[in-house]
Amino acid sequence: MKLPNMLNAAQRKAKANYIYENRINQKIFSGKKYYIRTYGCQMNVHDTEEIKGLLESVGFTESKNINKNDLIILNTCAIRENAHNKVFGFLGHLKHLKKNNPSLIIGLCGCMAQEESIAKYIKEKHPYIDIVFGTHNISELPKMLEEYDGKQNINVDSKEGDVIEFDNLYKRDSNITAWVNIMYGCDKFCTYCIVPYTRGKQRSRKLKDILKEVTELKNAGYKEITLLGQNVNAYGKDLEEKLGFSNLLEEVSKTGMERIRFVTSHPWDFTDEMIEVISKYENIMPYIHLPVQSGSNRILKLMNRKYTNEEYFTLFNKIKTKIKNVSITTDIIVGFPGETEADFEKTLNLVKKCEFDGAFTFIFSARENTPASKMKDNLSLEEKNNRLQKLNKLINTYSKEYNLKILGTIQKVLVTSISEKDNNKVAGYTENMKLVNIDAPITTIGKIINVEINDAKSFSLDGVIKK
Ligand code: 5AD
Ligand code: SF4
Repeated sequence: MKLPNMLNAAQRKAKANYIYENRINQKIFSGKKYYIRTYGCQMNVHDTEEIKGLLESVGFTESKNINKNDLIILNTCAIRENAHNKVFGFLGHLKHLKKNNPSLIIGLCGCMAQEESIAKYIKEKHPYIDIVFGTHNISELPKMLEEYDGKQNINVDSKEGDVIEFDNLYKRDSNITAWVNIMYGCDKFCTYCIVPYTRGKQRSRKLKDILKEVTELKNAGYKEITLLGQNVNAYGKDLEEKLGFSNLLEEVSKTGMERIRFVTSHPWDFTDEMIEVISKYENIMPYIHLPVQSGSNRILKLMNRKYTNEEYFTLFNKIKTKIKNVSITTDIIVGFPGETEADFEKTLNLVKKCEFDGAFTFIFSARENTPASKMKDNLSLEEKNNRLQKLNKLINTYSKEYNLKILGTIQKVLVTSISEKDNNKVAGYTENMKLVNIDAPITTIGKIINVEINDAKSFSLDGVIKK
């Protein structure tokens, strides 16, 4: 069965069926090995789970070793320039591997592959990359491999299609915690961000499909799910059904899944109903990642974030007072074009007011075709680095304070693995999403246990099981 390259919604359905039939009937790549490397956010990590599922459905087996493979895939990120650099740095090594093993197929996918200029650049400068597929073309991978004829094939749709349901065709990294996509793309167009261009407009999954997946995960013994989207609070705005994130959360909570999390939240779409639902249901974890990006109203406006410093702080306080034991973390960008010392001071002041439990901090990076990349950026890299260090120092004092505050307390921890720090210990996450290394038997993996916190390190906690 040959499928055309330009696909409308009906053809996409046919394509999904094609993959599904292949999965059941044939293992055309039996005996072949693949290796995949993932860069970037949770969305990419989950896309990789889908890619692995697709590949194994047609007979591939996964290899954890970069050498001696039939297929190597890089699932790339484009959010900041250093994400690009990491990929380009690694391509040299792949070129070398291909020289020694000419039948090796090299694939590149993810957000970087979706960027306009990259496809052209790969065509001209990296001919040894065999297949390139964009974020809207993941489901076509088995077909691309089946039809690969030795010529570079770049398959990057500029337009996103309908949401396709894959009947849980994922090879998940864990059998305890799972990612569940609730939406794809983003309509917010923050001026610095490349995501609306690489992932397309917002498309929400149907409630019934999400609930089906969560129920299947629960029945399979999963203990925790994380609802995934670039802006989860805008869930449903593109659906015909009158339905929002608060409705979705409530329904997901009623499935009885033991722990429910969600990322990422946009302050502008965070409603009182959402706060109410989170505070009402015990299986919705009291942890909210709420990116603020800047404390200066002038910069927030230039970023198109749609809220002010004061509005953010009001929402922050509402969440803190209404949700018991909630932990809030954030994202902050320093050195946005035109950011003055006074603007930066406003960011520091907001951090001092909020005392975030943790934060991811970034230096602004100009991304292709985004409005911010065309704004005047006079600040030296040295000054940007100084600001970042100052901000990190402040943030660290608050995350340490959080750790000290819970020293000696009993925390409920979902144990997920053996500890990376000490093989005689296990590791897991508190309800507030803090990593704990625990003195407890290996049989606790997959269980929620009470842990007494007895030491606080910079990025993790230590504890002992409390019977
Ligand atoms: N430069 C620096 N940081 C960025 N982020 C997104 N785009 C950029 C950019 N161009 C940060 C934001 C976002 C997080 C995922 O990455 O803080 O919340
Ligand atoms: Fe990017 Fe803004 Fe959308 Fe987040 S909300 S993905 S920062 S455009």
